[in-house]
This record gives sequence, structure tokens and C-alpha cells, in this order.
Amino acid sequence: MLILRPQFSLLEHYNSITIKHSNIGQRFSMLDGYKILTVTHREVPLEDIGSFILPHSEETPLQASLTRLKNAFQLSELLYIATCNRVIFLFHKDTTLDIPFIHRFFQQVNPNLSLNKIQKSVAIYEGNEAIIHLYEVGASIDSLVVGEREIMRQVREGYEQCDAWNLTGDHIRLLMKYLVQAIKEVYAKTRIGEKPVSVVSLAMHLLADRNLSKEARILLIGAGQTNTLVAKFLVKKGFTNITVFNRSIEKAVQLATSLNGKGYALTELATYQESFEVMIVCTGATQAIIDTALYQQLLKGDTQQKVIVDLSIPNNVSPEVVQQFSTDYIDIGELKELAELNLSYRKQEISLVKMLLQQQLKDFKKAYEGRQIEIAMRQVPVQIKKIKAKAMQEVFKKDLEELDEDTLALINKMMTYMERKCIGIPMKAAKNIIKSEE
Ligand SMILES: NC(=O)c1ccc[n+]([C@@H]2O[C@H](COP(=O)([O-])OP(=O)(O)OC[C@H]3O[C@@H](n4cnc5c(N)ncnc54)[C@H](OP(=O)(O)O)[C@@H]3O)[C@@H](O)[C@H]2O)c1
Repeated sequence: MLILRPQFSLLEHYNSITIKHSNIGQRFSMLDGYKILTVTHREVPLEDIGSFILPHSEETPLQASLTRLKNAFQLSELLYIATCNRVIFLFHKDTTLDIPFIHRFFQQVNPNLSLNKIQKSVAIYEGNEAIIHLYEVGASIDSLVVGEREIMRQVREGYEQCDAWNLTGDHIRLLMKYLVQAIKEVYAKTRIGEKPVSVVSLAMHLLADRNLSKEARILLIGAGQTNTLVAKFLVKKGFTNITVFNRSIEKAVQLATSLNGKGYALTELATYQESFEVMIVCTGATQAIIDTALYQQLLKGDTQQKVIVDLSIPNNVSPEVVQQFSTDYIDIGELKELAELNLSYRKQEISLVKMLLQQQLKDFKKAYEGRQIEIAMRQVPVQIKKIKAKAMQEVFKKDLEELDEDTLALINKMMTYMERKCIGIPMKAAKNIIKSEE
């Protein structure tokens, strides 16, 4: 890891920026063209990450802003990934990065960013370190929630978009191919993605364990993000009888429509006449909205045990309801503990994932070097053919004219043989160099 020493006057602001670089004291590595400038939840509070996101609008679409950035900084390729907890600018550029470059770069992203903020927030990776960082992001060991696969979907989407906008090329294409392979390997050979760590998915697993009928009537109270996720799960599990209640009736109806159910305003819960088997509550209300009086009303004399899932913080079902009625209560407190336990289980896998990624890095290096040689060697057959043509048609033209047909045919045959053999020599030599470096 290189700690940059200030060399320019403005650099005194920067003496804590670190560049994670693999070649200190080593010879130049082929991978050094890969660079990552990133801002993540590790260095920056989540609410500040937004100021490093490239702003875009209808007038200045993202494609145009990225293209301008790529041209202004002479990046041969650029991949941009923005999520709620990280922003990544991955690019390919042959020259080494320096601090003024990083400053100018983020000033173009957002002119309001101060030197001090850039200094405190940006992490820089070059060469091997850049590849490993991307692998660790993709394997979600750098994530807030270790083992969540969502990040890889976001990386893939970012790539597809930048590729469609002609921002990426051969270097990033090959890296993405090997990244996908590496992540498959990680999920196949480690347990990093096992055991659910989100409260919603844990609650839904527990609900599935209840072996309820698919026709069981489910009351979904709240139509925010969490219950929208819950609804997706219910549909996936084949539940067909879902009724939504929400403070604003529009959202209740909207969510209910996607479930082929009915949507009502929350105020209509008190006069709801149908029976129910499951109640899932999740709203932003800061006090209980299901009290004993309302619950009694909803039961209408039914004494059968009901499943209650309350995902709200603080709880929206009053504790008296659970105490006084026959309920199968899925408690968020227990779910949170289980989520923490599962997360620490996943974290134990991190060192194994890192080892696997080092091996994957070797595979990528080999493929990358092979690819660079392949590109460089494309010229060899063309040049050798040119030399042969010049020899036959210019340099030895007169001598050849004096030869009989059979001799001329033999010389042609020999030249073609030489041509084929000569093409193989540099290719074989290059392969040997790669092998000896492994
Ligand atoms: N334990 C966990 O890990 C976890 C995870 C996610 C969420 N949660 C909790 O789940 C709750 C909802 O989260 P969310 O992400 O779904 O929020 P959200 O997307 O903001 O939705 C909030 C929902 O609550 C309703 N609401 C807000 N204030 C209300 C009030 N005073 N009375 C009745 N309804 C009200 C809203 O109705 P309108 O449509 O009318 O605005 C909306 O349906 C929060 O308590 C959150 O802490 C917990």
C-alpha cells in the first residue's frame, strides 16, 4: 500500500489519501492500467455518498456525463456503478494516477466537493488491488450485509449500461467475464450466501414453516417498501387471498391490485367483516395501531389461533393483544437476533472467500496476459506475409524470373513453410514467458 507523499503545494491537504497499489518496489505489472476510484460506506456515512454520484437529469443524461468524464480524463474505458452504499469509477488508463488528477476528477463529478471531503472519502486502487477490490465487492464481503447477492446484479447492470454506451472495451469486458466466474466459484465453494440475514426473509421463512393453506386469508397492514417485499414473497409462495390496509388508500389499492386482492384505507379495518388467519403488520406508525379493542372486533368471536407477524419498529401490535388472545406471534426481536447470528456466521467465511479470490486473480492475470499477447501477435502473420511478398515481388524478383517452373514452385513451397513456422516462434516464446512468471 502506497501512502502518497505531498509533492505539490496543494497536496498537503492530501497526505492521508492512500493508494492501494500492488507494485511497490516491483516491476510494472500488466494489470496496472486498471484503476478504481471509489467512495463506500466504509469511509463515508451513507447520507454523504450521494454527493459523489454523477448527477444526471433529462437535460444532461448519465450517458453524456460519463462520456464527458471519459474524454476529459483520457480514460480508454470507463465503468460506473452507483448504489446506495457505494460509488465506483472503474477505468483503464495507462498512466499512474496522482493526487491532482483525483481532485480534478471529483471536481468534475461534483464541483461542490471540497478538497478536504475528497481527501477523506475517496479510496484508490490500482493494478492487482483494483481487481481484488472489484472481486471483493462482487463477492459481497465488502458489503454492509455480507453475502447479499444484490450487489452483483448492480455491478452487472452497470456494466451492461456502460457497454451499451460504448464506454467500456476489451479490458473491462475480460475483467467482467472473470468476475462473474469468480463470484460463481465463491458462492459454490463457501457458505457466504447461506442463512438469511434480512428480517423480512427470516419472517417469511418462519411463515412458510406454518404450512398454511394457500387460500388462508392474509391481512397485510401497511403498503410501504417492507410490505411490498413481503407481498412479493407471498405471491411467490402461492398465497392467493391477500387484503391490504394502508393509511393512504391509493397505495393500499395499488399493492392489492398487484396481488389480485382488495385494498382499503386503514380506517376501514375497524369495520372489516371478513375473517382472517394471518395478520402481517408493518407501518411507520410510532405507536401500536392494533390494540385489544380493534383485535377483538376483527375476531368477531373467532377463537382459532391466528398468526401475527409484526415487522414494525416500534411494534404496531400492542403486547396486550399477544398476551390476551390465542396468537402464534412471530417476534421481530427474535428475528433480529437470528439475523445477527446468521450475519456473524457469514462473516466467518470471509477469510476463505479471500483465499479463493486470490486464486481467481491468478486465473484472470493469466487470461489477461494471454489476451494482450494475442492482440499484439495479430500483427505478426500480416507482417511476415508482407516480408514474403516483398522478397518474391521486389528483392529477388529478377533472380526468380530466371528460374524454371519446378524450381520456382519449390521456392514458393519453402517460403510458405518458413512463413508458417516463423509465425509460431514469437507466440511460443510469449507463452513460455507467461509460464515462467507463474
Ligand atoms: N426490522 C427490520 O429490519 C425492518 C426492516 C424494514 C423495515 N422495518 C420497519 O418497518 C416499518 C415500515 O418500513 P418501510 O420501509 O415499509 O417504510 P415506508 O416504505 O416508508 O412505508 C411506511 C408505511 O407505513 C405507513 N405509515 C407511516 N406512518 C404511519 C402512521 N402514523 N400510521 C399508519 N401508517 C403509517 C405508510 O403509509 P402511507 O402510504 O400512507 O404513507 C406506509 O405504508 C418501519 O417501522 C421500519 O422501521 C423494519
